[in-house]
Amino acid sequence: MQLKQKLIKRVRAQFGRPIGLPGGMAGWVMAHRSSNRRRNAWAVSLLDVQRDDRVLEIGFGPGVAIRELARLAADGYVCGLDHSEVMLRQARKRNAEGLRRGRVELRLGCVERLPAFEAPFDKILAVNALQFWYQPVEPLRELRRVLRSGGRIAVAFQPRGPGATDEVATRRGREIAAALADAGFAGVRLETLKLTPSVVCALGINASSGADLPRRASQGG
Ligand SMILES: C[S@@+](CC[C@H](N)C(=O)[O-])C[C@H]1O[C@@H](n2cnc3c(N)ncnc32)[C@H](O)[C@@H]1O
Repeated sequence: MQLKQKLIKRVRAQFGRPIGLPGGMAGWVMAHRSSNRRRNAWAVSLLDVQRDDRVLEIGFGPGVAIRELARLAADGYVCGLDHSEVMLRQARKRNAEGLRRGRVELRLGCVERLPAFEAPFDKILAVNALQFWYQPVEPLRELRRVLRSGGRIAVAFQPRGPGATDEVATRRGREIAAALADAGFAGVRLETLKLTPSVVCALGINASSGADLPRRASQGG
């Protein structure tokens, strides 16, 4: 493999599972890059979060969207799941107030092995995270299981790195929408935010009669 490709692969890995000092730097970039902040704020806005909503975010990274979700769900509960310890530390610092008030809970874990939750969620969010999941349809099915009937999921994606174009965003958006439909979500639709490059967000509803919780031993929340 050429040196440039190796380097791209290593940098990409730091965004898929930030580790150590390079992972900390990746988290800093995600938290401070203006287009990252805008895409997170936009994806959150599409969820129409209510004051007393229970919201789950998968792959919260440095915790920028968690903070916004907690601001909107001021009387609700916001839970985050990410498999990076470095991101968990950054997100905990960024959400110290919500954690102290007991409105925010941040967990270390992966979407492929969801922990148990005490009650279904009203909304679920994933921003630039699904592209790192192995065979995403199965995790999406599991996420539908923990979403209340009528609850909404938003899965946003913005291409990054070499070859990041609007065309890639559109193609991946369609693939994510298809994965949501395969996982059983209804009313699947795509929204686009015109940044450079564009951000796409696939939205779906859990139209089944009810979530069947829990599956693993309960860990609160
Ligand atoms: C590119 S970052 C995006 C972070 C944040 N959502 C944002 O937009 O700024 C992807 C995040 O998803 C997490 N992640 C990737 N695959 C995951 C998985 N299978 N389970 C849990 N977290 C995952 C990574 O650790 C990382 O924090």
